[in-house]
Amino acid sequence: MAKEKTIFNCSECGGSSPKWLGRCPHCNAWNTLVEGSVDSSPSSRNRFAALAMTAEVSTLAQIQATDVERTPTGQEELDRVLGGGIVPGAVVLIGGDPGIGKSTLLLQTLDALQGRGLNTLYVTGEESGAQIALRARRLGVGESQMGVLAEIQLEKILATIEQRQPAIAVIDSIQTIYSEQLSSAPGSVAQVRECAAHLTRVAKASGTTMVLVGHVTKEGALAGPRVLEHMVDTVLYFEGDTHSSFRLVRANKNRFGAINEIGVFAMTDKGLKGVSNPSAIFLSQHKEPVPGSCVMVTLEGTRPLLVEVQALVDSGGPSPRRLSVGLERDRLAMLLAVLHRHAGVACMDQDVFVNAVGGVRISEPASDLAVMLAISSSLRARPLPRGFIAFGELGLAGEVRPAPRGQERLKEAAKLGFDVAVVPKANAPRKPIEGMTVHAVERVEEALELVRSLS
Ligand code: TYD
Ligand code: MG
Repeated sequence: MAKEKTIFNCSECGGSSPKWLGRCPHCNAWNTLVEGSVDSSPSSRNRFAALAMTAEVSTLAQIQATDVERTPTGQEELDRVLGGGIVPGAVVLIGGDPGIGKSTLLLQTLDALQGRGLNTLYVTGEESGAQIALRARRLGVGESQMGVLAEIQLEKILATIEQRQPAIAVIDSIQTIYSEQLSSAPGSVAQVRECAAHLTRVAKASGTTMVLVGHVTKEGALAGPRVLEHMVDTVLYFEGDTHSSFRLVRANKNRFGAINEIGVFAMTDKGLKGVSNPSAIFLSQHKEPVPGSCVMVTLEGTRPLLVEVQALVDSGGPSPRRLSVGLERDRLAMLLAVLHRHAGVACMDQDVFVNAVGGVRISEPASDLAVMLAISSSLRARPLPRGFIAFGELGLAGEVRPAPRGQERLKEAAKLGFDVAVVPKANAPRKPIEGMTVHAVERVEEALELVRSLS
């Protein structure tokens, strides 16, 4: 019988220490050591035992490359982010704010898969079976044959999975599960890592697709150890404002598909419904143009999306604030520096707030020009012209750089009735776009000058 001994592992570098220390002795990171266990039986202590047996190596040419088989989930928007459907043995981690719709989406998905004859299992550690049943009834899937297990102990969950052999199992959520092997509380770094590692191993061995629901921190990152994201095959994030009905699901990592696709859903009284034509959902409805608002066209996967960027510049106190929601704050600081240095627009003594409407997160640098124009519009208290859009990346030298697939962006905006655009020179259309005047710019100061002449 193997004897378990406690050691402490660093969640940053993976180094270990026999006792708990405030600082990792290997990488010097603070507060990263977490409890783990080692098998201290004599055989495992003999480091050379493994060498007695050699494993077989095949050449790359000998290995048959087979395409992974995918089962569509029946939710078109989810399939889009997954790269076509669920893959046997794959582990998917899905994160998002509380109440955003993770459980709802997974319940609907399992029901659809069960309806196609797959054996499914929903493990809930957060809600009771009765609560799940109530929600299922509301979603109109109350008569489903899917398996439901209200359990938080890992060993029991693993035994159930082994016995039922489901094609797909959902663990809602990984933070509520605990293993008997560790003494720390559920949700601790050690527990989350250990449970996820066990579940991943079972998924690979049995071919069950494992979907882990993960909590997120206040900053929006997945709570728990960083290794969690490395361990799994696919990481999906739910985005969106819980006050609005639209939700985005974005893949941050996908070993079985592209990562730039997004799925768009609307939360209705009957659960989440896919939105197949989402381009105009992130615009707020102003009757008249208002200062500080600029619409940009971002390209998410294969679909262009129009997003309104809002800025508010207001006189600040001794240490002015820079706050951004849905956009990177460091990027905002950089844009303000470019604006000052190259266009002479100073916001040093001003608070600057920037927000992407609808809870969407924009990571594309092509948003720079729209953010900058929104800031200058707020500062001047002059609205941008009606039907105005802009996109383009700003360089530190004050140049406006092209965005990929500019034509598509312009066409989508024209389709939605936008008729004035400011774009990087290289994105200027060769053939005129019907109903749209396109101004091409090369420099920041040129863009500002142009907008001043338009509004
Ligand atoms: P839920 O799936 O429980 O979120 P998570 O698991 O991410 O925490 O989402 C619940 C929210 O969705 C809750 O605020 C109510 C709302 N909702 C609807 O609007 N319609 C529905 O049909 C359902 C089931 C939930
Ligand atoms: Mg939930």
